[in-house]
Amino acid sequence: MKDISGNALRQLAAEALRMRGFSYTPYSHFNVGAALLAEDGRVFTGCNIENSSFSPTVCAERTAIFKAVSEGCTRFAAIAIAGGPAGAEPADYCPPCGVCRQVMTEFCGRDFKILLVRTPDDYKEYTLEELFPFSFELLRR
Ligand code: THU
Repeated sequence: MKDISGNALRQLAAEALRMRGFSYTPYSHFNVGAALLAEDGRVFTGCNIENSSFSPTVCAERTAIFKAVSEGCTRFAAIAIAGGPAGAEPADYCPPCGVCRQVMTEFCGRDFKILLVRTPDDYKEYTLEELFPFSFELLRR
């Protein structure tokens, strides 16, 4: 896995923040944006999309991952995630939920980078291994 430049990570963080503008969140008013960097350099974006029946709600991270996989892209290097109450810039870092961590495990290596973004210049960086160790997998990547 080649290193990702600081500028590429900054751009990914900015895209995650921008995607919060598309969140459909009439129930939680908690807007999450995600930007997923594929190993081939493509970027797939996502936002959270809620539903009156609640359980069909999909997180921003899974929106981005499923958009990519549905276009034949299955190898990923990093994801940036930005979340917080609608109408304001994120005050805190927004970690991915357990279901999204499980979906990342399906398609991403243990060194997959996860950026928790407050601003393009203020993010915390983790690996999937750090956030989701000892995970359930049937396929070894
Ligand atoms: N949400 C995400 O989009 N990603 C996460 O990892 C955590 C939660 C969304 C789902 C729901 O629309 C809102 O945040 C509140 O739970």
